[in-house]
Order: sequence, then C-alpha cells, then structure tokens
Amino acid sequence: PETKVRRGPMVGRHVVVTSGPTHEPIDPVRYIANRSSGAQGTAIAAALRDLGARVSFVTGPASVAPPDGVDVIRVETARQMRDAVDAALPADVAVMAAAVADWRVTNALERKIKKDGSGKPPALEMSENPDILAWVSGLNKRRPTLVVGFAAETNDVIENATAKRKRKGCDWIVANDVSPSTGIMGGTENAVTLIGPDSAEEWPRMSKEAVARRLAEAIAEALA
Ligand code: CTP
Ligand code: CA
Repeated sequence: PETKVRRGPMVGRHVVVTSGPTHEPIDPVRYIANRSSGAQGTAIAAALRDLGARVSFVTGPASVAPPDGVDVIRVETARQMRDAVDAALPADVAVMAAAVADWRVTNALERKIKKDGSGKPPALEMSENPDILAWVSGLNKRRPTLVVGFAAETNDVIENATAKRKRKGCDWIVANDVSPSTGIMGGTENAVTLIGPDSAEEWPRMSKEAVARRLAEAIAEALA
C-alpha cells in the first residue's frame, strides 16, 4: 500500500528510475537479455522513496521484486522502456540504472523458429536500440534537473565512464566494474565511483542498498 504521509528532503519531487534488464525477442519463446538482476535500481528507487520522493519505477523483467510505495511500470524491451520513461516525464530527477539491451533482433518472428534439418543456425539481424539516457539528457524543456546514468565497464572503468558521461550528456555517472571476478553483476554488493562534471568520488565497496542510500542523499543535496 502506498504511504500517504511523506517526509524527507525529496518530498514534492518526482523521480524516474529505470531498472533491470530488457528482453529483446527473437521469436515468441526466445529472447536476448543480460545478467542484470535489477537489485541496484530497485534499491535506488526504495532509497529515494524513503527520502520522500514520488518514484516512477520503470523496470524490465528483473529477478528481484520492485519496492513498495513506488509506481511500478513493467516493460520488456528497450523501446517499451523509452516510451514508459517518456510517459512518466516530467520529473525532477532521472536515474537510469537499467541494463538496456544494446541491440534488438530486427528479423524476430511471430512463430517459433524451427530447426530445418540443415544443421545451420538461423541468422539474426540486429539493429541498435534507442539510447534512453542520451535521449533524456538531450531533452530541452522536459529535461529533468538532474540526470544520472550508470556505466557498467569491465576495463578502464574511470576512463570509459568519464567519456560515457560526456557522450551521453548526463550530469552524473555512476561507474562500476562489472568484471566477472568482482561478483557485482547479480551480487549483493557494489563498488562505484560517482563521476560529475569536474569530480570523481570513489566509494568503498558496500551493499547495493548502502550505495543506493548514499546516492539518494547526494541527489537530495544537489537539488536542495
Ligand atoms: N542506457 C540507456 N539506453 C541504452 C543503453 C544504455 O538508457 N540503449 C543507459 C544505461 O541505463 C546506463 C548508461 O546508459 O545508465 C550506460 O549504459 P552502458 O551499457 O554502460 O553504455 P552504452 O552506451 O550502451 O555503452 P557500451 O557499449 O559500453 O555498452
Ligand atoms: Ca550497453
């Protein structure tokens, strides 16, 4: 049930959070996805709710349940996610924590693809999905005051994330190392660096909930 009485520094603020993976269909029974559990995005939505914000939580098919007390908008594909974010605006803040599939299959079929006996796999044609973070960052009148992206990298994390922040035009980027050896993808902890226009703050490894609380506090402070 929705909490009626809100308290905290984010009361009166609307935040859009994207979370989880997207699924891009190949045929009715198969899809392309990624290893995102949705844990970090879910924790961020909960932390912003706890500071009093009204939260529109746009989530792909995540393996963790969405938080209580937020508006949950469930989507499958990147294009549905973009449309849901569009419909949720205007907002004071956008936090794009989703692991959006970079490509979709353009020759997806309405019927299950069958083996044809030749031993040859079907050829999947793919095209690039819309970049939701770059699109939100580039809005004029409807641009949220603060746009926060994530940069999941496996190498040259700070360098890649700094370039990504500039390229996408967001205000902050939360950089994290998702190399398999870190156990972050699908795990309970995260180790991030918060990168702004002229600063980079390395946070110690902590639970995804603790990262979320600290990020929510930083967001509240930036808006104050
Ligand atoms: N993102 C998005 N829409 C996309 C791809 C990414 O909104 N189609 C957002 C993610 O939610 C994240 C940020 O952009 O906040 C960075 O995602 P990432 O996958 O690290 O960046 P990409 O630009 O897709 O670059 P890469 O080639 O490294 O995957
Ligand atoms: Ca990507």
